[in-house]
Amino acid sequence: MCGIVGYVGYRKASPLLLKGLKNLEYRGYDSAGIATCHAQSCIEVRKGIGKVEEIEKKLNFESLDGDMGIAHTRWATHGAVTDRNAHPHTDSTGKIAIVHNGIIENYGELKEELIEKGHEFRSETDSEVIAHLIEENIAYGFEDACMSAFNRLKGSYAILAIKEGEDKIIGIRKDSPLVVGIAEHGTFFASDIPSFLEWTKNVMYLYNYDIVIAGKEGIRVYNEGLEVSRPIDTVEWDIEQAKKGEFGHFMMKEISEQAETVMKAIKQDRAVVSAIVEEMKNAFGIFFVGCGSSYHASLAGSYFFSKEVKMHVNPVLASEFENYEHFLTDKTLVFAVSQSGETADVLEAVRVAKGRGSRVIGITNVLGSSLTMEGDASLLMHSGPEICVLSTKTYTSQVVLMNLLAHALVNRYEEYMADVKSLYLGIYNLTSRTMREHLEELAKELVEEEHIYLIGRGLQYATALEAALKIKEVSYIHAEAFAGGELKHGPLALIEEGTPVIAFTARDNCNKILSNMHEVKARGGWIVGVSAKESDLFDYWVKVPEAGALNPIVQIIPIQILAYELAVLRGVDPDKPRNLAKSVTVT
Ligand code: M6R
Repeated sequence: MCGIVGYVGYRKASPLLLKGLKNLEYRGYDSAGIATCHAQSCIEVRKGIGKVEEIEKKLNFESLDGDMGIAHTRWATHGAVTDRNAHPHTDSTGKIAIVHNGIIENYGELKEELIEKGHEFRSETDSEVIAHLIEENIAYGFEDACMSAFNRLKGSYAILAIKEGEDKIIGIRKDSPLVVGIAEHGTFFASDIPSFLEWTKNVMYLYNYDIVIAGKEGIRVYNEGLEVSRPIDTVEWDIEQAKKGEFGHFMMKEISEQAETVMKAIKQDRAVVSAIVEEMKNAFGIFFVGCGSSYHASLAGSYFFSKEVKMHVNPVLASEFENYEHFLTDKTLVFAVSQSGETADVLEAVRVAKGRGSRVIGITNVLGSSLTMEGDASLLMHSGPEICVLSTKTYTSQVVLMNLLAHALVNRYEEYMADVKSLYLGIYNLTSRTMREHLEELAKELVEEEHIYLIGRGLQYATALEAALKIKEVSYIHAEAFAGGELKHGPLALIEEGTPVIAFTARDNCNKILSNMHEVKARGGWIVGVSAKESDLFDYWVKVPEAGALNPIVQIIPIQILAYELAVLRGVDPDKPRNLAKSVTVT
């Protein structure tokens, strides 16, 4: 759950690494560090706790010399957030430095073995063992030492290693992301493409156990001891997409992009969609599997399939998926839904499914991610990089894609395209200045609240869950969603004078949710209605267009903005809420 970046080439490495780190900070932001060297000079390591910008002020990363280096931004798993536990880590001699993203499961036994051999450890991390393991075999040369060290590791890892006196970076990936960027002046390694997008769009995607040796003269890739070739693709992403531009935060920028990203999501290759639709028709058992927002999109998807297609699909939290293992056969179709394509719980579910012979289709935003490599096929969201830790534009794109599959299954593809296109202005207006001001006012009403409840039925229940997640993760206000019908089974006890309840209503289930609002109102609740039609029951009305099957899109956008405004009012950095990271690469 960290970000790593490396550079070797003809330019000074530290400014490139620093920029790369800043672009990767959404992956973890409790500490960071950089190690650089020239082939002939010593390795110098600078690292500390805090956000990259704060550390940079203290340590002046940019003054580090050398045309080769590695860098890391951390989201702590093993070991507290301290300077010592920050990466890069070095071996006992200080001549080898590594950065690591992932978890070394057998680090305990390796550490014991290495301590017995006289190695001195400076950190509490699992990662430090890697530097010492390389040191242990360094007599055989840097490349062989790395290869034998990597052979001893169990767990998930993307690792970069450098050594004093060597003009190369050695990297490996296994179940953790690592991509290679090929620029005119040198080679980049990174956990994610935005890290080096400013310098190159040429990307080499790696497979599990690929070992890459990159120097000024070029790149070699090995897998299981054999040299292999990996194609170089040109990515469609643009550097401007990975910058904040006129916006104060990525979160608001990404929310505002949704009129465009929703349109991009429907631009799919018809042949690919048709092939998936055929697979769905022939499948015996269909699962949609995801975490967080991707799970909520899956839940919305299950309603589309039920309503539009009369087809049963099972939305399952990826971390719970193994409990359904017994239902998986070679006739089962599993959709693994993940913006990043790197979420460990999702990848674990993919492996469970594949282990049972089931087909896996990834719905993801990141080409070259582990999901696109491990799944049998992929449907790409085309949302461009999403930097904010919160999913916003990618959630709505996932909803669009599921809805698209549902409509394609009942031969209403063209009709659906037209429906989505006609929503462009509606979505655009939802992110307008007027709407933002209206939601800022609402945020001011809610900012001191400890609890906010959200209710909806059917598709709107999925929206309520997603809305609650948005509010809680970025404002730290406790927000909890209930299916409207469940209120009377317990949650009503929470409602007292002034308790805020956000209710999502839609044409198809208006009366029932109105009854639920009456129940809330009768107990003194303060109701915010998100709907196309006003009601006397609303204390605050957030007007959205009535969009039928596309309601999850138009109804979530105002709440994304509300969550953003709450975060800003409460002094939280919306792009980097506490304790969270963009890609959760641990199970
Ligand atoms: O990359 P993924 O879609 O697999 O990520 C899944 C969740 O970690 C993610 O949706 C998370 O819940 C976000 N912070 C939600 O805003």
